[in-house]
Amino acid sequence: MQKRAVTGTDIGRAARLLKADEIVAIPTETVYGLAANALHEDAVLKIFKAKNRPFFDPLIIHISNAAEIEKYVLDVPEKAKLLMEHFWPGPLTLVLPKKDIIPDLVTSGHPTVAVRMPDHPLTLQLLTCLEFPLAAPSANPFGYVSPTTAKHVYDQLGDELSYILDGGPCKIGLESTIIGFDGNEAQVLRLGGISLEEIENVAGKVTLQLNQASRPDAPGQLSSHYAPGKPLFFGDIKELLKTHQKEKTGIITFSSDFKSSLPTIARQWILSPHKDLNEAAKNLFHVLRETDTADIDVILAEKMPEAGLGRAINDRLLRASVR
Ligand code: TXA
Ligand code: MG
Repeated sequence: MQKRAVTGTDIGRAARLLKADEIVAIPTETVYGLAANALHEDAVLKIFKAKNRPFFDPLIIHISNAAEIEKYVLDVPEKAKLLMEHFWPGPLTLVLPKKDIIPDLVTSGHPTVAVRMPDHPLTLQLLTCLEFPLAAPSANPFGYVSPTTAKHVYDQLGDELSYILDGGPCKIGLESTIIGFDGNEAQVLRLGGISLEEIENVAGKVTLQLNQASRPDAPGQLSSHYAPGKPLFFGDIKELLKTHQKEKTGIITFSSDFKSSLPTIARQWILSPHKDLNEAAKNLFHVLRETDTADIDVILAEKMPEAGLGRAINDRLLRASVR
């Protein structure tokens, strides 16, 4: 059935809607975002409603050049400046003490705001047409897998908004890495599109504060998140297969082929035939969506190597899994 949303590449149309406090889906290099004027509570409220997102889960604001950050945060530590210089535009979000201009709704009442400069030509161009930053969470219903194509957004939120700016498939495919600061010390709050190794090359040793349910200030880190519609088990495929012999099983692997030797496996998705963790990251969310309509009852997902983007992929698979 036809949904309300129109998909296209008309930046002028997207800008007009955003200036009128409407929500618009926007492409980024990580995942598609559901955007609104970050400085208007009425506009931001529409994001929470469309996603069915709880108000305790704060949003990231998106800007089109690094210097703009000064308008929205009280202080930028030296390490944050270094990270911005290296990784912006790109999949890195910085959490810093906010100025009053940022509504409490955006930050869920926290004294800090999350900021990033996305690396996508259409969205950067759109931002330069606007006099305000865009608050944008991933454009999926709360708790579900993030969208990496305009069609993913249309399929799930097509009746909740009127325009989807189509920037093609997302080139990273995983959400941004989120970094907070304790003084000048950098803390990773969410693993994402920039690896720990890359961050540490620039900022030195960082601490991992990957928020669990006991630390609700980064609720995107809620334990059950990124979940597809079917039960997903995560770990060593051979071990998992021992306990899932009777079910119609779909497996997600990094690079190995199990199905050729085990024809009882109903479906197999190989995330990266080239053993490339970046390629695996790019394919992950698309594959998780495919499992929803595939003729299988359970998903068994293989643990990736704990290096590069493998860590962030493992983080998402663990959160998507039945434990
Ligand atoms: O790549 C991305 O980051 C994408 C694209 C659209 O930019 N956005 C995204 O947003 O993943 P979302 O809403 O799905 O995740 C944002 C997460 C929150 O769930 C929370 O964990 C963290 O950012 N966050 C936001 N503001 C925060 C704050 N003030 N303190 C700590 N964590 C915060
Ligand atoms: Mg999200």
